[in-house]
Amino acid sequence: MGARILGTGHHVPERVVTNHDLEQIMDTSDEWIRQRTGIEQRRWVVPGTGTAELASHAARKALEAAQLDPEEIDCIVFATLSADYFFPGSGVLLARELGIAERGIPAFDIRNQCTGYLYALQVADAFIRQGIYRRVLVAGAEVHSTGLDHTTRGRDVTVLFGDGAGVTILGPSEDPERGILGIYLHSDGRFAEKLMIEAPTSREQPHISQPMIEAGRAYPSMDGRFVFKNAVRRMPEVVHEALADQGLRPQDVDHWIFHQANLRINEMVARQLELPPERCYRNIHKYGNLSAGAMPALLDEVVREGRIAPGDLICMAGFGSGFTWGSALIRW
Ligand code: COA
Repeated sequence: MGARILGTGHHVPERVVTNHDLEQIMDTSDEWIRQRTGIEQRRWVVPGTGTAELASHAARKALEAAQLDPEEIDCIVFATLSADYFFPGSGVLLARELGIAERGIPAFDIRNQCTGYLYALQVADAFIRQGIYRRVLVAGAEVHSTGLDHTTRGRDVTVLFGDGAGVTILGPSEDPERGILGIYLHSDGRFAEKLMIEAPTSREQPHISQPMIEAGRAYPSMDGRFVFKNAVRRMPEVVHEALADQGLRPQDVDHWIFHQANLRINEMVARQLELPPERCYRNIHKYGNLSAGAMPALLDEVVREGRIAPGDLICMAGFGSGFTWGSALIRW
């Protein structure tokens, strides 16, 4: 028995940070950010709010949509690159936020950055197919803002990212034609350092120190052009892989949910695949890059706008640090 999506939810913090707000704290411009990325604003938490807390708000909305109580969840799979703590993971904290910690259900953390949601989805799908767990909560959430360099030194990365969470509840699909058809994942660790946060690091004692912080090693570093080039190659590649495996063509897909890293990346991917722009959804202009939260948050928006009808075909695809990339085909 395959898995299907029972409910979706997303949540972003209230505080809106526009490109003009960033102009006040670093040497950047609304025009530069918009032209190169399509981002107009993003949301930042008030420091003190952690990733699991953000995810809990999205989870409650997803549970409501699935008409389930938190007690009915059998397993949590939590994708994030900005966990509340170095350890333990945010999955256990999410269970606690939902008031179900005492039930003792398993909680996984998945560390595959912007592709993390797809990795989490495959784990959940496999559990359900095997009959190991029935109802799995898949979270993708990030609090980036508190870990970004808010000075001009960090401008190439800081303008790109925002805080937010998306949650998907999965359960068994009674109809073999509907649900998750396939998930296709890849990684290439040769380029791990092309987009990373280096510290805290187990390679040094202590894992983090004042000199490391001053050298900027606790902030993200990125070779933007290299990441861009690889994303526009790998995303169409993994979409073709998914469609070929399922005997489908791009024209068969009703809704395209791409990772929201940069509007220009997605426009190039859509052009290569010859996709109708109105079927390629986006929320990057208002949220920036939510990494693991991006695809589930966008899926939830599209679902709540009533755009997806039973039987529609959804294709998701993303690329990120690792490098990691992947795609998913879902029959709604
Ligand atoms: N505001 C103003 N200027 C900025 C800036 C900012 N926020 N960030 C960088 N610049 C400057 C650079 O210093 C550089 O100046 P110089 O020419 O005087 O040296 C200039 O803008 C061009 O920088 P460059 O990095 O070559 O720009 P780009 O055209 O490659 O665009 C990105 C930069 C980050 C928008 C682009 O590379 C990108 O989107 N890459 C993919 C990133 C991504 O998707 N990451 C997440 C993957 S999950």
